[in-house]
Amino acid sequence: MNMEENRIMQGTKITEDEDELKLRPTSLKEYIGQEDIKNNLEVFIQASNVRNEALDHVLIYGPPGLGKTTLAHVIAHEKKANIKVASGPTIERSGDLAAILSTIEPGDILFIDEIHRLPKVVEEVLYAAMEDYVINVVVGKDSSARTLAIDLPPFTLVGATTRVGDVSAPLRDRFGILFKLNYYQQKDIEKIIQRTAKVFGNDIDEDAAQELAKRSRGTPRVANRLFRRVRDFATITNHGFITALVTNQALDALKVDSMGLDDVDIRYLKGIIERFKGGPVGIESIAAAIGEEQITLEDVYEPYLLQEGLINRTPRGRMVTEKAYRHLHIPYQNSLF
Ligand code: ADE
Repeated sequence: MNMEENRIMQGTKITEDEDELKLRPTSLKEYIGQEDIKNNLEVFIQASNVRNEALDHVLIYGPPGLGKTTLAHVIAHEKKANIKVASGPTIERSGDLAAILSTIEPGDILFIDEIHRLPKVVEEVLYAAMEDYVINVVVGKDSSARTLAIDLPPFTLVGATTRVGDVSAPLRDRFGILFKLNYYQQKDIEKIIQRTAKVFGNDIDEDAAQELAKRSRGTPRVANRLFRRVRDFATITNHGFITALVTNQALDALKVDSMGLDDVDIRYLKGIIERFKGGPVGIESIAAAIGEEQITLEDVYEPYLLQEGLINRTPRGRMVTEKAYRHLHIPYQNSLF
C-alpha cells in the first residue's frame, strides 16, 4: 500500500476499542436477532456461491449501534472474502476512491460507512464501478482531457447509513440488496448480554440480564456499554458477580431510567414540555433550547423516542405524547386550541 492509499484507509479505520471487537460475532450463526435479514442473507450468499459470483451490492441502514458494521464483516466472513473499510466523509476526491478500488481483488467486499456523506463527484465514479466494474478517470486538462476506463474485478459494495433518505436515488438504485436493521427484541438483547458476560467471564443472574436488556433501548452497543459499567460496580461491590440488585444500583447511578432513557432524552422531552408547551416545535428550536446538536438528536435520540411512542413527528414539528407525560409523571393537558 502506498502512502496515499495508507492515508485513506488509515483515516477510515473504525475507532472502536478492542473489547468491542472481541464482542462482535463473526459468523451469521453467532449473530443474534434480525432473523429476517439473516435468513435472506443466507440465501443470497449461498446462491452467489453456487454461481461462483460476487454477492450483489448491499445497502444496510438503520439507527446507530444496531450492528451495521458487524453485519458487513459477517458478510465478508461468510463469503470468505477480504474486506476493505472506508467511510463516506474521508473519501474526498474521486482519486481517493480510485486509489481504494485499484487495490480490490476478485470477490472482495468494499465497506463504505456513512455512505450518505460521499461527495457527489465521488458518487459518480462509484456508479460505473458498481454497475460495470469499471472506473472512469479523467486524465489531462482542458482540450487534452481524456477519460480512461480501468477495469475492476467483480466485487461487492456494502454501504451503511443512518440516513437512507439522504442517499441519492441513483446510488440507492444500484444496490440489489437493501436491509433495514430494526431495534432488537428484548429477548435478543438479553442473549447478547449473556454472550458478552461469557466473553468477559462474568457470572450474571437471569433477572439481572433481563433488567439490563430492558434499559438498553433495543440496541446492542448500548447494552454492551451499560454491561461494562454494571460490571465495574459488580467488581467493586460483589466480587464481579452481576445480580439484579447490583444492576439496578449501577443503572440508577448512571441515570438510565426504567425505559433506558438517559439524561439527554429527558432534557429533550422536558425541554419540549416546559419551553414549548409539549409542541409542535421545530427540531432547530429544541436543539438550541437544550444545547445539543440537531443532527445527534435526529440520528441518535429521536428514532428510539419515536419507536417507543414518546414523541410524534408532524408537519409542524415534534410533539410529546401523552405516554411521555405519564412516564415523566407530568400531568397531561390536551390543548383544545
Ligand atoms: N454484538 C453486537 N451485536 C450483536 C448481535 N447482533 N449478535 C451477537 N452479538 C452482538
